[in-house]
Formats: sequence, structure tokens, C-alpha cells
Amino acid sequence: ISQDEEGARTLKDLSQLAAGCEKCPLYQDASQTVFGEGRADARLMIVGEQPGDQEDIAGAPFVGPAGQLLDECLSAADIARDEAYVTNAVKHFKFELRGKRRIHQSPRVSEIDHCRWWLNEERRLVQPDLIIALGASAARSVLGRSVRIADVRGEILSTGDGTRVLVTVHPSFLLRLQDRQAQQREVARFVEDLRLAQSHLN
Ligand code: URA
Repeated sequence: ISQDEEGARTLKDLSQLAAGCEKCPLYQDASQTVFGEGRADARLMIVGEQPGDQEDIAGAPFVGPAGQLLDECLSAADIARDEAYVTNAVKHFKFELRGKRRIHQSPRVSEIDHCRWWLNEERRLVQPDLIIALGASAARSVLGRSVRIADVRGEILSTGDGTRVLVTVHPSFLLRLQDRQAQQREVARFVEDLRLAQSHLN
């Protein structure tokens, strides 16, 4: 089956195709493709940037520190993660080796745009009512254009196909904030964004 000619019929088929993806060079250094996870009938899709070190090893999205913070904030906003479909804009971990440590590197726009084919297929199969885009890379992939988070944050946007989109910050941004008070404030703002998304699902 050629992935460009014939669309997969199920998420399982799609993830099997993605496991062999060589559309861009990122597959060469990553351990595996980290595909999306969750219900095919999910009304909510959550899109991150790319798998991190722990996700690359586990083969599942958002299982490391950013995932833990995401889980806490989703609970605070009354969103059940297991009812959502959780995925990333880029399906392979991009990193730079420093000694033995693998340091996250942001994907290029060209890498996001290459990998967008997979996200669009996930969207076709899941058909969520609402997508939460976490950070600029996710927003680029979901909206098909680059936006500044500050310009679109906290608004419910509409895409050409009628899906609603909420763009907010990435949990890794929250983890990087050094100032405790600023961090608490930003986490609270993030939870507010998630609550807004949740209110549009009811
Ligand atoms: N950050 C992401 O954007 N996605 C993950 O799956 C993990 C960390």
C-alpha cells in the first residue's frame, strides 16, 4: 500500500505505516516513530511538538516530564486524557548529542510540514470537534501557517474544514520558567486555556 495514494482505514493501519516513515531524515537517529494515541472517536485532539527523550524510548506521546505536567493540568481542567487523542506535529525525536545526553532540538518548519501529512491523516480518521495545539510547532501544523502564540492564544479559531482550534503554550515552556511565581501564574493561565477548550466540548 502506498501511503501517498491510498489512505489508511484505521488508526492502527496508519500507525503501522508511520512506523516505517522515511519522509524526512529525522527517522535516522530516533529510536522509533512515536505515533498518536487515543480513541478513534475522540472529540478532542491534543497536539504537541515532537516526542522527547522518554517518549522516544517508550514509543508513546507525553509520558515524560512535560506529559506529567500536561496530565496535571488536564485534570485541573476536568479533561480526561483517555477520552482524547494525543499526538505530536513531528513523530520522531530530534536531538543533539552532548556527551551521553540527548538534548531536544526544535524541529524546522520544513520538518513540521513534511510530517503534517501524518497529522492530517490522523485528523481525517479521528475527526475531532476541537484541537488543542500546544506551542508554535503544533500551531503551525494544525493551522498550516506560522502564528505567534501571543496573537492567537486563548481564542477558539476555526480551520477551513470547520474544526475548532485552541492554541496555547507548550508544557515544556512552563517547565523552563525559573521564577516560581511566574511559573505558577503561567500554569494557571494554561489551565484556563484548557478549561475554555473543555467548555466548547460540552
Ligand atoms: N513534548 C511534546 O511536544 N510531545 C511529547 O510527546 C513529549 C514532549
